[in-house]
Amino acid sequence: MKNQRLIIEGGNALSGEIKVQGAKNSSLPIIAASLMCKGETVLKNCPCLTDTYASCRILTHLGCECRFDGNTLTVKADGLDKNEIPDELMREMRSSIIYMGALLGRCGRCSLSFPGGCELGPRPIDMHLNAMKKMGAKVNDEYGTIECVSEHGLKGRKITLKYPSVGTTENIILAAAKAKGETTIINAAREPEIVDLAAFINKCGGKIKGAGNSTVVIEGVSELYGCTHYIMPDRIAAATYISAVAATNGEINIHGIDASLCDSFMCVFEQMGCNIYVYDGCIYVNAKKPLKSVGKIITLPHPGFPTDAQAIIMSALCKAKGVSIFEETIFESRYRHVDSLVKMGADIKVIGKAAIINGVKKLYGAKVAATDLRGGAAMVVAGLGAEGITEIKDIEHIDRGYENIEKVITSLGGKITRT
Ligand code: EPZ
Repeated sequence: MKNQRLIIEGGNALSGEIKVQGAKNSSLPIIAASLMCKGETVLKNCPCLTDTYASCRILTHLGCECRFDGNTLTVKADGLDKNEIPDELMREMRSSIIYMGALLGRCGRCSLSFPGGCELGPRPIDMHLNAMKKMGAKVNDEYGTIECVSEHGLKGRKITLKYPSVGTTENIILAAAKAKGETTIINAAREPEIVDLAAFINKCGGKIKGAGNSTVVIEGVSELYGCTHYIMPDRIAAATYISAVAATNGEINIHGIDASLCDSFMCVFEQMGCNIYVYDGCIYVNAKKPLKSVGKIITLPHPGFPTDAQAIIMSALCKAKGVSIFEETIFESRYRHVDSLVKMGADIKVIGKAAIINGVKKLYGAKVAATDLRGGAAMVVAGLGAEGITEIKDIEHIDRGYENIEKVITSLGGKITRT
């Protein structure tokens, strides 16, 4: 909700156990995929977030029934009777572009506007549009509206991506799931959330092979049928809570997460001096020793270090002894949180794609803003590790991706309230 703020009294070591929420970036494409299914789809472990609620508003607008009961979302898509999504719904969420593939797959046509703003710099959709054209859709994207039609259904094709884009890979998988013939994606994104989307579609009767690898092969089927699916855990939420523990020199036991999902960033916490033990679907992190700097980290497509963890881990590194460097290669404008960290006493210089962090002894509470989802989470991490009171405004960005962040932090002994 607009105008709410998070007030954090920093300086308490976080300690305790949590079960990590379901993954936002897996639930959003899976909710979109559910509109292609006959009968009922039941999504368990679905996070209650403003982005998942926005997805439900899109489905409801299209004529589907959606019901959240705790973390279980039930979708019935048999009543779908529209194929256009109005501008105000498209703009609520940046990932709304994946409805292009899902609607083309279900109805053979769709009319959408361009997805919301560009908080991370330019976010073109050329690869999405080219892929749909290659599969036989006629695409008209003049005057701010994207009209796509494939009168006789989409056709399976070989599509080579110039970059392993997550959203484009998902859009192609959605469109190809019910297309005629076989689609092969070369240079596909390999994120675990894509594996979860493919697992869901396969449970619904789809035929997708190779998700998680660079080559994904999708054999189109004529029908998909709703199923029950458990959304994978959110690895970036896990990274956020581990960073908060690192920033406060605490300890945490995270349940319900396969540690291999976190390989791309756990090595950074190890380098920082955290002790990490993995056992039976749990990750234990002890960060009681003073943190050390980590040298250079380059954000890369999976299995490289995730751009979504950059801001969050930067907050913890602000107090790590020595110099740490990030090189952000995915998005042009993903250092918008840096000014607020500097306001809190951090020593960070941004030069082009690099952010150079010289560890300081202390951060101090300040009035700051959440500039975007992960930048906002970075403010929470920094505030917990700072001396004094931090007040974060514009927290609607944080609510897009974190289920009840203040409740989780409070359960770990942190002092945080929402006003
Ligand atoms: C997904 O965004 C995630 N969103 C992002 O998470 C994440 O940061 C990003 O992947 C990278 O990992 C969801 O899954 C909902 P991309 P997406 O297409 O799909 C360029 C978070 O914090 N590109 O892989 O939009 C693009 O500009 C969010 O949870 C084109 O040039 O990312 C960017 O530089 C934010 N043309 C790069 O590719 C296109 O047509 C990667 O974007 C599409 C993308």
